[in-house]
Amino acid sequence: MTATNRRRVLLAKPRGYCAGVDRAVVTVEKALEQYGAPIYVRKQIVHNTHVVRTLEERGAVFVEETAEVPEGAIVVFSAHGVSPMVHEEAQRRRLKTIDATCPLVTKVHKEAKRFAAEDRDIILIGHTGHEEVEGTSGEAPEHIQVVDGPGEVDKVRVRNPDNVSWLSQTTLSVDETNATVEALRERFPNLLDPPSDDICYATSNRQDAVKEMASECDLVVVVGSDNSSNSVRLVEVALDAGAGAAHLIDNASLLEESWLEGVGTVGVTSGASVPDILVHDLLERLGEHGFDTVHEVETAQEKLIFSLPKELRKDLRAEP
Ligand code: F3S
Repeated sequence: MTATNRRRVLLAKPRGYCAGVDRAVVTVEKALEQYGAPIYVRKQIVHNTHVVRTLEERGAVFVEETAEVPEGAIVVFSAHGVSPMVHEEAQRRRLKTIDATCPLVTKVHKEAKRFAAEDRDIILIGHTGHEEVEGTSGEAPEHIQVVDGPGEVDKVRVRNPDNVSWLSQTTLSVDETNATVEALRERFPNLLDPPSDDICYATSNRQDAVKEMASECDLVVVVGSDNSSNSVRLVEVALDAGAGAAHLIDNASLLEESWLEGVGTVGVTSGASVPDILVHDLLERLGEHGFDTVHEVETAQEKLIFSLPKELRKDLRAEP
């Protein structure tokens, strides 16, 4: 049988929106309904071009820093979290803040504060410069140092090798993080783990689903923006798990026809900040190229829902 007459798509499940992204996007939508435009949002509410553009069309104004928000205006903090300094600045500028930080990122902030209160050196495994890492580091800048993978473990300097703990960004590769922790533990045998996994359920579930199907795929296409950490990780995980090739695309129009040459099975998935409409567009485009049989590969069911930020809930309740 040739590749052309057995063209099919394996569609990963879970994929796309996680509970934290859903909550953050709905927060901005509800804030626009409740208070009217403009609603300022510090940084991209979630790392997805389509979501940001859609919210902009409805009246959200995305800014890089709180200083760009007019005094007294409403600002939403993104799902990735912010450091205490950002909260303080917002207070100084008399901004009304709505904090859409994912509760699973807030959990890591709390762990950082607790380890710092115990005066431990904290190794934060994550990508330098990523908003989430900046937010978490800001909770205890004196105690935290960032390590971006096993190759950076040698550069770590601590005060007392028996009083070191680690935390991580929520959207990393599970396997690479395990390798980093192993390398850290070799240097610090008494390394203290976080009380529970920092890599969130959505990140690990999406990686598991891709792993399950990758070895059957000549090509894996991940829908997601290139600043989305968990989306970029899905490409790496697909390649590590045996996919013939893997590419990240922001939307279906970026699918290159040359990628499909000689391909029988295409795996499709999407990052945690990607609305499913973008995956449907891709399936449609693949269908036009003869990939019209779609099998879902389900490795987990997700039922988690987070309630909206309390400051917004309060105002929604107060509505007559
Ligand atoms: Fe939260 Fe994980 Fe999504 S940390 S925003 S549930 S990718």
